[in-house]
Amino acid sequence: MTIDNSSMESVSHEERKFSPSSEFVDAAHISGDKAYRALYEKSIQDPEAFWAEAAGELHWFRKWDTVLDGANAPFFKWFDGSRTNLSYNCLDRHIDAGLGDKIAIHWEGEPGDSRDITYAQLHIEVCRLANALKVRGVQKGDRIAVYLPMIPELAISVLACARIGAVHSVIFAGFSADSIRDRILDSETRMVITADGGYRRGKVLELKKIVDEGVMTCDCVQDVIVVKRGGDHLVDCPMMDGRDSWYHNLVANVDDNCPAEEMDAEDLLFLLYTSGTTGKPKGIMHTTAGYQVYSYLTSKYVFDLKQDDVYWCTADVGWITGHTYIVYGIMQNGVTQVMYEGAPNHPDEGRFWEIIEKYKVSIFYTAPTAIRAFMKWGNDWVTGKDISSLRLLGTVGEPINPEAWIWYHKMIGAERCPIVDTWWQTETGGHMLTPMPGATATKPGCATVPFFGVEPAILLDDGSEVEAGILAIKKPWPGMLRGIYGDPQRYKDTYWCKWGGKYYFPGDGARCDEDGYIWILGRVDDVVNVSGHRIGTAELESVFVEHQDVAESAVVGISHEIKGQGLVAFVTVIDGRDQDENLRNELVAMIDKGIGKFARPERILFSSDLPKTRSGKIMRRILRDIAEGKDLGNVTTLADPTVVEDLQKQYLKA
Ligand code: WTA
Repeated sequence: MTIDNSSMESVSHEERKFSPSSEFVDAAHISGDKAYRALYEKSIQDPEAFWAEAAGELHWFRKWDTVLDGANAPFFKWFDGSRTNLSYNCLDRHIDAGLGDKIAIHWEGEPGDSRDITYAQLHIEVCRLANALKVRGVQKGDRIAVYLPMIPELAISVLACARIGAVHSVIFAGFSADSIRDRILDSETRMVITADGGYRRGKVLELKKIVDEGVMTCDCVQDVIVVKRGGDHLVDCPMMDGRDSWYHNLVANVDDNCPAEEMDAEDLLFLLYTSGTTGKPKGIMHTTAGYQVYSYLTSKYVFDLKQDDVYWCTADVGWITGHTYIVYGIMQNGVTQVMYEGAPNHPDEGRFWEIIEKYKVSIFYTAPTAIRAFMKWGNDWVTGKDISSLRLLGTVGEPINPEAWIWYHKMIGAERCPIVDTWWQTETGGHMLTPMPGATATKPGCATVPFFGVEPAILLDDGSEVEAGILAIKKPWPGMLRGIYGDPQRYKDTYWCKWGGKYYFPGDGARCDEDGYIWILGRVDDVVNVSGHRIGTAELESVFVEHQDVAESAVVGISHEIKGQGLVAFVTVIDGRDQDENLRNELVAMIDKGIGKFARPERILFSSDLPKTRSGKIMRRILRDIAEGKDLGNVTTLADPTVVEDLQKQYLKA
C-alpha cells in the first residue's frame, strides 16, 4: 500500500501551544511533563513491571503467572494464569470499599425523564439480569447481541454478560436489520437483548421491529429479551411465543445476588463489529484481563479521574468509545457519570449545556463532529448556561480541525480546561496517543504523545522511519485486540503483515513535528469516518452492486464541514437502464436497509464508466478529487480520460 496524500488532509501546521494551569498540574495524577516522561520511560523500558503495578490496583481472584506472553505472536497473551471479572471490578470492588451509595449513573432520557442509580443499585440490577440470563440457559462463552438505546439497561446488559462470562456483541441502534443479521450469524449469537423503542430527536425508533426482521433467518437465536423503554403506549410491540420475553418479568423473579464468574485472563469478553476495507465487518475480539487493566488505567490518567468528578461521555455504548469510556474504564474507577439517551439538539440546541449545568459535569468527552455542530448553532446556546463545573475536555473518533478546537477551548473550556484529543481505535481497546491533561502542552488538532507502554513510529512501506508516513505501533499493549472472530488469518493479514509481522498497522497516516508530537492525518485505506462513525467504502459498494441495474460502483470519502468526512458514490448503470431519481432513491433505500441511515452518501452520481488505470484498477484518488472539486492534473495514465471529463461535468451540474 502506498500513502495517498489526498486522503491525508493535513490539519494545518499549527503553532499555538496551550499548557495546563499550575493548579491543574499540581492536582493531577500525572503532574507535569517531567513526571509523564519518567513514567513513560519506565513503561517502555520495563513494560511488564509497569503493567503489573497498574494491575495491582484492581481485584484478582488469582494473580497472573506472566504479564506478557509473546510466544505465539501476534496472538499475545496478557496476565496469563490470572482469574478476574470485569463486572466485579466495576461494581463489587467499590461496594466493598464502602462506596455503594455513590451515584454510578445519572441517566437522562431524551424526553426529560431521569434516573439516578447508585453503585449498590447497579450491582443489584446487574446481578438480577445475570441470574435471569442463567435461567434462560445462557452459559459462559455464549454470544449475546445487545441492540438497545442509550438507557441504563444497555450498561446493565453489558455488565451482566461480563458477570457470568457471556460474550456481548453490542450493535449500535442505528444499524439496520440486515446488519443485525450479518453480525448475529457471524458469531452464532444465541440471544438478543433489545427494547420496544428508544427516543431520537423526539421520535421513537422501533428497535424490536428491526430485531424481528433481522433475526427472521437466524436459527441460532433462541431468546429475545425486550426492555420496555417507553411505558405502555410507546409502541405496539408484538411478542413471539417461546422466543420473546419482557426484561422486567425476567428480572422480577430472580435473586439479587449473582457471584461473579472467575474468568481466565484470555477469556473472550466481547465482540464489537467494525468496518475494514472489505464489504464484511470484522468481529473485533477483546479479552478479559488485558482490556481490564488498559481500560482502567487510560481512564484514570487521561481523564485524570478523581473521586468527586462527574464525568460525561456523549458517545453511544454501541461504539468502542462507549464500551471503554462509559462502561468498563470509567466504572472501574468508581466515578459518577452522566448517561444521556438522545440527540444534542432536542428539544433545543442547548440540551448538552443544560445537562452539564444540571449535573455539574466536570469532565466532558465528545466528538469533533458534535463540536462543529455546536459552533454552527451559535454561542447563544452556551452563554446562558452555567458550565463552570467543567475542568477537563476531551475529543475522540476523528481529527479535530484547529478552528473547532479553539472554539471548544474558549467557549466550553473558558480557556481554563485542558483538552485531551485522544487517538485510538476499536482494535486498540483504549487511548493510544493523547495528551496527559496535567502534563502535556497541547496544540489544536494534535493527538500529541503516546500513552504509557505505547511505542509509536512513523514508517514507509519498507519500514524506514520518516517524518510523515504511516503510523505503526511497535510494542503490544494490554488493551489490544486478540483477533477477528472466526478469522485468525484476517487478523494477521490486516494488522500484522505490513512490516513483516513486527509491528501493528492501525491504518492511519501520521506526521511527527519538531516537538516529537504526532499528528494524525486520516486513514490510508478505504475506511471513512463520517461524524466519527467508521464506515468501509466497500460495504456501500457491495450493497449497490446488488441492485439489478448497477454494473459497478466506487464510493469515496470527501471532506465535510460538519461531519469531518462524507461519502460520495459513483455508480455505473447497466447499458439501457434508467439513470434517474427513482434509481437514486432505490439505492439510498438499499443503504438504509443494508447498513443503516447513518451510512447514506451525500451524493450519488451515475456514469457510463469509472476512471481506471490501463490495468483496470479504479482510480479512487481521481474520484475524490472530482467530488472535492479539485484540479485533476494529469490524467493521461487513465485507460479512457474522457470518463473523467464526463463525471466532472455531471458533478458540477448536480
Ligand atoms: C480515527 C474510535 C484523529 C482514526 C475510537 C482511527 C481519530 C479511527 C481520532 C478508529 C483522533 C479516532 N484523531 N483520528 N483523536 N480518534 N480517529 O474504531 O482514523 O471507531 O483509525 O474508534 O478513527 O475508529 P473507531
